[in-house]
Amino acid sequence: MIGMNLYRLKWKLVLSVLLICIVISELAHCDKEAQEQRKSPRKKSKSAKTTLAKVAKKGVMTVKSKPMVNPPTQGQILLTQVLNRGKFIKVGESISVNAGATLELRCRGKPVQWSVPSYLEEDDDGRLRFVQHEKYGVLTLVNTTGADTGEYSCYPVFCEDTDCRKNYEKAAKVFVFFPDPQELFVPSADYYEVIKLRTNWPTRLPCQVTSPAANVTLHREFPPVELAVDGTEISFDVKKGFTIHRPRPYHAGALYCVASLGGLRQSSTKYMLIYVNYPMAPPTPVIQASSSSLAIGENLRVICTVMGERNVAVEITWEYPGQQIGRPQYTLESINPVTGSTTGQQTQSTLLVDEMRDVDQGVYTCTAENLQGSKSASITVKVLHKAKPTKP
Ligand SMILES: *[C@@H]1O[C@H](CO)[C@@H](O)[C@H](O)[C@H]1NC(C)=O
Ligand SMILES: *[C@@H]1O[C@H](CO)[C@@H](O)[C@H](O)[C@H]1NC(C)=O
Repeated sequence: MIGMNLYRLKWKLVLSVLLICIVISELAHCDKEAQEQRKSPRKKSKSAKTTLAKVAKKGVMTVKSKPMVNPPTQGQILLTQVLNRGKFIKVGESISVNAGATLELRCRGKPVQWSVPSYLEEDDDGRLRFVQHEKYGVLTLVNTTGADTGEYSCYPVFCEDTDCRKNYEKAAKVFVFFPDPQELFVPSADYYEVIKLRTNWPTRLPCQVTSPAANVTLHREFPPVELAVDGTEISFDVKKGFTIHRPRPYHAGALYCVASLGGLRQSSTKYMLIYVNYPMAPPTPVIQASSSSLAIGENLRVICTVMGERNVAVEITWEYPGQQIGRPQYTLESINPVTGSTTGQQTQSTLLVDEMRDVDQGVYTCTAENLQGSKSASITVKVLHKAKPTKP
């Protein structure tokens, strides 16, 4: 059985993505635009802006916030939220700040560094400010929208002369929700997102909500069903979205989330889940030669063997001394199930060198590659000169 090689696997992926693109092209501009947009993942939605305008008109720029039920854990005490006019509260794991209002966080330390959701870092529109005071740093984010929802953290920086080190371990973190009465999901620039389901790797469907109070469910498009979220196979976390813990082929397809809160019900971006039989580790090739020293004119056979998982593609390539002078490569490839195992597979490539010459002496290397990476194995082959017949 000649197996599917990596190229074919890659092509299959490309083809399926293309197919999805064709299906969706009526809804979205699937090509370049989608890719460009992916670089700036969140755009402020129009409705978030209108909400903001309304709030601004009313002049309601104060913070209404309620600490969440989770008590602060150790190490987070140095982060506080500043409410109106010098009123502080210690933050817990998460807080809510109404969209449109100002977020102000204070972090004890001199100096401190801040980290904010990546889209805020990339797209500086002047709403975010950091000020370092004598004993603390202050982060201020004005004209907020649901899109600002995410993790905010500060960590101390230790300086010796001009050498400063950031101490991430001592970071104080808070997840900030910006409930927006019109946007239950953090707006996404993409109409859909392609997600690879890899065997043995948990898969995350972010569908981030702007309010921790929203009721979120997971749905399949065809056939239209709501998926059971049992907390084991699939679980939900309001800060992370849905996680499929052990992806299986039947999880593949188009999924989306639905959030409901009050009278409002909204769907998230679509997630196109593509199943990839993903290897556990890079392959480990074993190399053997029919003989490690041959006489000129003899035939050489070098065998490269990889034991792996069934249905995981492995590609084997060769490097050999004769390559330099353009000796053609004759290889035989084979893929066979491992007898006595339901999950094992043996991939083998045999390099054949006919009629050895001097130039064929040297190191033979085979490199085996799968989606996790590659490894090589080498063997040295000598060419023996027949002893010249000696005259008696
Ligand atoms: C915040 O919104 C107000 C009202 O729309 C506007 O005047 C102000 O410039 C905005 N501030 C920033 C920093 O974007
Ligand atoms: C959330 O969804 C569940 C299941 O659909 C339902 O039983 C519950 O009443 C909902 N809660 C709210 C606050 O809408």
